Amino acid sequence: MYELVNVKKSFEKRGRQVKALDGVDLTIGDGEFLAVRGPTGQGKSTLLVLLGGLDRATEGRVIFDGRDLGAMREVEVASLRARAFGFVFQTFNLLPTLSAQENVEAALVPFGVRGPERRRRALAALEELGLGDRASHLPSELSGGQQQRVAIARALVKEPQVLLADEPTGNLDEDTRGEIMSVLEGLWRARGLTLVIVTHDTWVARRAQRVAVMRAGRISVGSRGPDTAGTPAGAAGGAFMPA
Ligand SMILES: Nc1ncnc2c1ncn2[C@@H]1O[C@H](COP(=O)(O)OP(=O)(O)O)[C@@H](O)[C@H]1O
Ligand SMILES: [Mg+2]
Repeated sequence: MYELVNVKKSFEKRGRQVKALDGVDLTIGDGEFLAVRGPTGQGKSTLLVLLGGLDRATEGRVIFDGRDLGAMREVEVASLRARAFGFVFQTFNLLPTLSAQENVEAALVPFGVRGPERRRRALAALEELGLGDRASHLPSELSGGQQQRVAIARALVKEPQVLLADEPTGNLDEDTRGEIMSVLEGLWRARGLTLVIVTHDTWVARRAQRVAVMRAGRISVGSRGPDTAGTPAGAAGGAFMPA
């Protein structure tokens, strides 16, 4: 699915070059659940941004399904991004004046999905996330965990191949962290998604099939744990599973 070859990404910061990624080689399989772990400032978010086609590498290649994202035209990348990649962020990034349902529907607007169909699919996605009775609520009327579930519904309503999550539990308390991880695992398993979670949290990372560690823009990839691959990883964080 993904093949990254010697990927580098630098930023200008007050006249200084910051090497956010400094030669990353990484393969991510179709349907794999990978965690990328490491402390703050090591390049994890930058890596996720490149996987999602939100920015381009300075050097090296980011190949997705045989296509080099860095060599594609911007309109092609935008179209691939809209169809194939779902994003979930630490801060949920919901639009505050829209209801849960409208936030999810917004993800379908670029595809020209008509009103009634859009409402039906958005409601189905919210129901899958256990929020069918919260569809008309504003984000401010929902708990952090519920807001993150709305954000996950928004990412998944377009049925992407890949779900990219940047510190998805970073703003949540411990119980809710477990709940959101169970939700993500359940969806990964049920839908055959490729799931990449970036986190500084070792507990979160341990739930993945494979853990890569980022330090100073470089990555080291662990081997696949025979005891964890495809299992609920101990289901340590509570029993919530989407229906
Ligand atoms: N858009 C940007 N402009 C300038 N510097 C950036 C930008 N994005 C990331 N960086 C820098 O790149 C490094 C890695 O950042 P990041 O990928 O956000 O790390 P992490 O997600 O592991 O905390 C940091 O030094 C950060 O300040
Ligand atoms: Mg980050």
